[in-house]
Amino acid sequence: MLNEKTVIVTGAASGIGRGIALAAQSHGAKAIVLADLTEEPREGGDTTAQLLARTGIPHLFRRADVTSPEDMEALIAESEAFGGVDLMVCNAGIALPNDTLDLDPSDLRRLLAVNVEGVFYGAQAAARQMLRLGKKGSIVVTSSMGGLRGASFTVGYSTSKGGVNQMVRSLADALGPHGIRVNAVCPGLIDTALVQSSPEAAAAFEPLRQRMPLRRFGDVREVGDVVAWLGSDFSSFVTGVALPVDGGQTAII
Ligand SMILES: NC(=O)c1ccc[n+]([C@@H]2O[C@H](COP(=O)([O-])OP(=O)(O)OC[C@H]3O[C@@H](n4cnc5c(N)ncnc54)[C@H](O)[C@@H]3O)[C@@H](O)[C@H]2O)c1
Repeated sequence: MLNEKTVIVTGAASGIGRGIALAAQSHGAKAIVLADLTEEPREGGDTTAQLLARTGIPHLFRRADVTSPEDMEALIAESEAFGGVDLMVCNAGIALPNDTLDLDPSDLRRLLAVNVEGVFYGAQAAARQMLRLGKKGSIVVTSSMGGLRGASFTVGYSTSKGGVNQMVRSLADALGPHGIRVNAVCPGLIDTALVQSSPEAAAAFEPLRQRMPLRRFGDVREVGDVVAWLGSDFSSFVTGVALPVDGGQTAII
């Protein structure tokens, strides 16, 4: 599906980003550039780079902070060794333990810096390179079902992901004339360290799982497969979409 395509993934050390990178490899990517603040997976075990090394795919890890435009420019430049980025995945994101009405202002600023600004700087740097190289690439953002629905325990998070969904629609309009597509995936409950970020969050998610049409948490690879499709030519007429990958969670009342 991703034949001859170079993929960059932010937040690739852990969780969904790791799943996206491994899915990209299994769907035939040419090369993968991994970016994160740290190489150590939050869930433990081998690093994503070690897992990719076993497959023989060309890859590299770069320490990069998505809130830094300079880091994002430098990250995109790394892909030139592989012919430039074809699929940019702006995945890094954070959640807060206390994300209610009592949200601390400094926590809110940090959340918006990573989840909104960080996505923009990655997409901006990738788009600039795609335009310069004349590539009809794909940019995929990891949003959330929290960007489609609100909740009392995800006040700042839902705000950030709703902003990202609007960013995707706007960038799709800006870049569409150049053949560059921009889409978001909106994962529901995916089994990662992030959803276990606090006992309150874990307790709040359990009734959601019990009510969800598929009655289970998702696996990171199930998000990765959808991202690979959005990065491939099989989705060539899809842009500006915020696509739920949520076991049906946002389909129901
Ligand atoms: N887990 C879920 O159920 C779920 C649901 C919906 C959306 N999401 C979204 O999926 C994305 C990944 O979440 P996850 O569950 O895999 O979380 P995670 O915490 O397991 O992994 C996130 C990774 O991002 C990295 N990161 C954090 N801040 C960064 C920064 N400033 N620069 C670079 N890297 C940074 C972390 O080091 C970590 O490796 C996030 O955008 C999150 O909002 C997750």
